[in-house]
Amino acid sequence: MVLRETEATNFRSYSQIRLRFGQGKNILFGRNAQGKTNLLEAIYITCLSKSFRTNIDYEEVRFDAPGYTLTGLFVSNSGAQRVVTIHYSREQGKAVAIDRKRLDRVSALVGQFPVVAFTPEDYQITWGAPAERRRFLDILLSQLSASYLADLQDYSRVLRQRNRLLLESRQKGGAQITELEPWDANLIQCGARLMRARANYLGEFATTLQRVIQDRVRSIKALQVSYKPSFTIGDFEATAEDFEKALRATRKAEVERGMTLIGPHRDDLAFLVDGIDLRRYGSIGQHKAALMALRIAEYHFLKEKKTEDPILLCDDLASYLDSSHAGSILSLMEGLGQVFITTTVDNPREVYGRVLGDEARYFRIEAGTVTEV
Ligand SMILES: Nc1ncnc2c1ncn2[C@@H]1O[C@H](COP(=O)(O)OP(=O)(O)O)[C@@H](O)[C@H]1O
Ligand SMILES: [Mg+2]
Repeated sequence: MVLRETEATNFRSYSQIRLRFGQGKNILFGRNAQGKTNLLEAIYITCLSKSFRTNIDYEEVRFDAPGYTLTGLFVSNSGAQRVVTIHYSREQGKAVAIDRKRLDRVSALVGQFPVVAFTPEDYQITWGAPAERRRFLDILLSQLSASYLADLQDYSRVLRQRNRLLLESRQKGGAQITELEPWDANLIQCGARLMRARANYLGEFATTLQRVIQDRVRSIKALQVSYKPSFTIGDFEATAEDFEKALRATRKAEVERGMTLIGPHRDDLAFLVDGIDLRRYGSIGQHKAALMALRIAEYHFLKEKKTEDPILLCDDLASYLDSSHAGSILSLMEGLGQVFITTTVDNPREVYGRVLGDEARYFRIEAGTVTEV
């Protein structure tokens, strides 16, 4: 799938733009704060209904405007065209339509137009808190499986209710725990399914990741990713019984703390780079290489598993490359489909032209206007 056209109205720094993209590499260049990341964000939201930057939708609305509209014209691998429209206003919230037919739920968009964003904030995946790693995993798996996303939404809802009960019960001095039982059944079923999906997909993803390291990211030799659930699971995968047993064992602590202490919302991932724990011992160069590999592997994993080829968005790629060598970009980008790359280089055709070839397209971004050059 490729994004043929995009239109944005009152989105961030853009009052109104309409652009036609190439089906290969699209280079978006301009000085800082001109709107490069804003444009990538607009594309990402058109694919996924959510931003990679913020969970607060109204931040994306152009200052003083009532709401934004994003439209994307996509061409499927099969050649079929589809138009996605996202409309958001503070008063009415977000609405998503495909070919003008409004989706019942915004999240029904997820997975239909697969996308990967590689941004400077990605460092949080390997440096940051477990929540950042779960977010990485959840966005990938939600695009792969609608039932995963549904379980994730159900699980968070049940978890919120359950935590509210636990908190109330703590405030009342630990009484009324029987009220938890109906919630537990749901939590356990959804939770065990999420954990099994995470373990299974990660097992497969590890193979893609290692292939990407060998083929494209030569500064490290091996990158292993392993699943770290919040409680001990059976030999192969988490079962509902494992989760139930573990919940029972933490019940007393839950009541004391007033929250659910174990489950997929406490999962983590660990990365081993060339045999060492990346988070604790990795150099900055190893982190960068690992992140590059993760995003490129995410792209390939989606491509293998989906009927549509994903779109790759690379924000400020230069911050990940050890040198400004155009050649290192080439080894990363080779064989990928539609890619959007932002750069502050002011003569990108001279810098990247030879490497990216004739079909690359160049767009100058300046003060909220975009001009193809
Ligand atoms: N909601 C908004 N309304 C208007 N302008 C915005 C909004 N959000 C961000 N901006 C402006 O967008 C600019 C940053 O654009 P960005 O795409 O991040 O720049 P860059 O080209 O460096 O990637 C800033 O000048 C900021 O003021
Ligand atoms: Mg930027």
